[in-house]
Amino acid sequence: MKTQERWHSAMQNNYGVPGITLVKGQGVEVWDEDGKRYLDFLGGIATNILGHAHPAIVKAVSTQIAELSHISNLYAHTPGVELAEKLQDLTNNPSARIFFCNSGAEANEAAIKISRLSGRTEIVAALGGFHGRTTGALSITGQEGKRTPFEPLLPGVKFIPYGDLGAMRRAVSKKTALVILEAIQGENGVVVPPVGYLREVREICDAKGALFAIDAVQTGMGRTGEWFGFESEGIVPDIITLAKGLGGGLPLGAMITVGEKTPAFKPGEHGSTFGGNPISCAAANAALDFIVKKDLLQKVSDAGEFLKEELEKLPGVLEVRGRGLLLGIVLESNVAGELAAKATSNGLLLNAPNKGVIRIAPALIVTKSQLKEFVKIFSKSLSEVLNG
Ligand SMILES: Cc1ncc(COP(=O)(O)O)c(C=O)c1O
Repeated sequence: MKTQERWHSAMQNNYGVPGITLVKGQGVEVWDEDGKRYLDFLGGIATNILGHAHPAIVKAVSTQIAELSHISNLYAHTPGVELAEKLQDLTNNPSARIFFCNSGAEANEAAIKISRLSGRTEIVAALGGFHGRTTGALSITGQEGKRTPFEPLLPGVKFIPYGDLGAMRRAVSKKTALVILEAIQGENGVVVPPVGYLREVREICDAKGALFAIDAVQTGMGRTGEWFGFESEGIVPDIITLAKGLGGGLPLGAMITVGEKTPAFKPGEHGSTFGGNPISCAAANAALDFIVKKDLLQKVSDAGEFLKEELEKLPGVLEVRGRGLLLGIVLESNVAGELAAKATSNGLLLNAPNKGVIRIAPALIVTKSQLKEFVKIFSKSLSEVLNG
């Protein structure tokens, strides 16, 4: 039986049945069960920050699993503490405190829970925003279609248009516990807020005493050419959530509180069996060290500029939005689904978060020749879709 048929017979249908089965990956390339090679410009949806089978990750994980694997959070381990210190350094703030979990949704659940310790319960989030599929994270996800079948969800959540400061001013009050926004809305089609928006939101939150959380799950770990994706706004959020790229391809999430006034968990108030396990933390340490050692942030920014310039020349492309290696290619017509399928058949992985936008989020180690190969296959696929 083909893998697809076996999937259909054994798995829940929440993802639909995937069209291809991948069996091997190396850097920015993957191969399917028939031996066909693909250029991977989706990177496990912005997750495989150093690509597939990166030697630094393979070594860190192999060494760690042979030494000490799961121990529970009743005991300390050095990979976890080392990673927490590194993340603290990235925030440039010694008051930062880290809670490790396994995913983006869990990081946002932790943010919701910790915001309740302020004594307030209301939350303001953005329409179009995506924060995960667990019940709390879904309650703050601004995409009605995803929420409706599971209602009633958490009460007290207001959704406002992303980028609209007037709406933010009207929504935030002295009852607001938390305002949560993505630095760039990834799942909504790589929507970038106006310059200065996050800075003004910071001020609105300060004026009302609300906590400001940035969900950097998709923008984090250098993907935008900055560590978290909000630094160019010159702000310090009270809470930062991370996952995806954090574990270098292994499951790992983090909720970081910053500043003395942000509430803190007391012993027993929150936890996770696997969260911050030694193996995922070892992978994350290796990924972070490699990004620093190879100065990848600058390379990511340069790669983004190169791609924007090349892609915006193509007939059928309206604009390219995003930063670094999180880009949304906005098409002139609603052919994104068809284009993603065509690209796959032409040996290129990418995805269509909506009908008019293609998203790419390749590994940060992508080379110039791979960027050029991407432009070539993308351009061919687009012209095949547009010209029949
Ligand atoms: C911004 C953002 N937050 C949260 C999540 C949820 O992450 P996870 O799927 O690891 O729960 C995602 C996933 O796409 C995301 O893009």
